[in-house]
Amino acid sequence: MKPLLIIPPAPGRWPALRDLLAHEGAAPVADLEHRFVPGVAGGQDAYAVIVSGGQLLSVAGINKYGDLGVLGHVYTRPEHRGRGYARKVTETVLGWFEMTGGKWVFLTTTDELDEGLYWKFGFAQLHRAEWAPHNRLVMVRIAHGVTSEPLDDAGDSTAVRDVGRVEWPAIVALLQYQAGPDPRVPLAESAVTAEPFTLDLLAHQDRGSCQLKGAFRGQRLVGLGSVATDQPGSRTYAMLIPHADTPPELRAAILDLAHAKGYAQVDFPMEALAHV
Ligand SMILES: CC(C)(COP(=O)(O)OP(=O)(O)OC[C@H]1O[C@@H](n2cnc3c(N)ncnc32)[C@H](O)[C@@H]1OP(=O)(O)O)[C@@H](O)C(=O)NCCC(=O)NCCS
Repeated sequence: MKPLLIIPPAPGRWPALRDLLAHEGAAPVADLEHRFVPGVAGGQDAYAVIVSGGQLLSVAGINKYGDLGVLGHVYTRPEHRGRGYARKVTETVLGWFEMTGGKWVFLTTTDELDEGLYWKFGFAQLHRAEWAPHNRLVMVRIAHGVTSEPLDDAGDSTAVRDVGRVEWPAIVALLQYQAGPDPRVPLAESAVTAEPFTLDLLAHQDRGSCQLKGAFRGQRLVGLGSVATDQPGSRTYAMLIPHADTPPELRAAILDLAHAKGYAQVDFPMEALAHV
């Protein structure tokens, strides 16, 4: 068996990982690069890799925030497939997640892969949406002995603060249990697109075109808001998740933020869609 390592993100690891995962597309690769170089302060990420002669052959990673995680980047080089490498790295990173207090880990996949790979690791289907060419699904793996859902233990008082890449697993988890910003889109659909949608929001925030705020009850993220900060003039727009029963403190913080940025008027275009 080739050496199996569990690595935290570090700039020196990035070239080999980029070489392995270059096929993944711009948004996931940009997110990974951010995590490895320059790094995300407070991030709790781990990647299990199989290495041979300085080259990575297989990887699986988890981005973790408290007891929530997102499993991704499960990949084996084509010429090394069918040797149990994906199984090994996935089991290893899942073991790390549970040993460090992880309870719920989510993944987004297609229905051609779920049965073969992920059922065997204890993942169960949470959401499924019709998609072409393959239906998309989100699966969850719940640590042994946990019987609740993540939002069940949210506290009573709400605190609003800035959020970024470090809270990404909590943002993805929120969108599994609460509807997204567009009232026309059913929960299953916003849930299966939560990963790319929220990576896009984070990329916008990094570029300075929006700013994000999260509403927390205890450790739990229960709402997310975004304000466009690149609009010329005195008018901007904002978005709230969930679109119904949004914590009032979050709406107030989003309005305050927009006003502090010099905007006199804030529109919530998604809210108008509820009446279309
Ligand atoms: C899917 C992938 C990671 C599997 O890698 P691998 O190292 O060949 O997998 P393993 O040899 O460890 O196989 C693990 C199990 O998954 C199953 N499996 C592997 N590829 C599969 C596939 N494409 N569809 C369904 N099941 C699959 C195997 O039968 C095996 O089951 P077993 O342990 O009961 O025998 C690899 O084919 C790959 O990188 N594909 C492209 C990227 C991708 O699709 N990643 C998943 C994104 S959600």
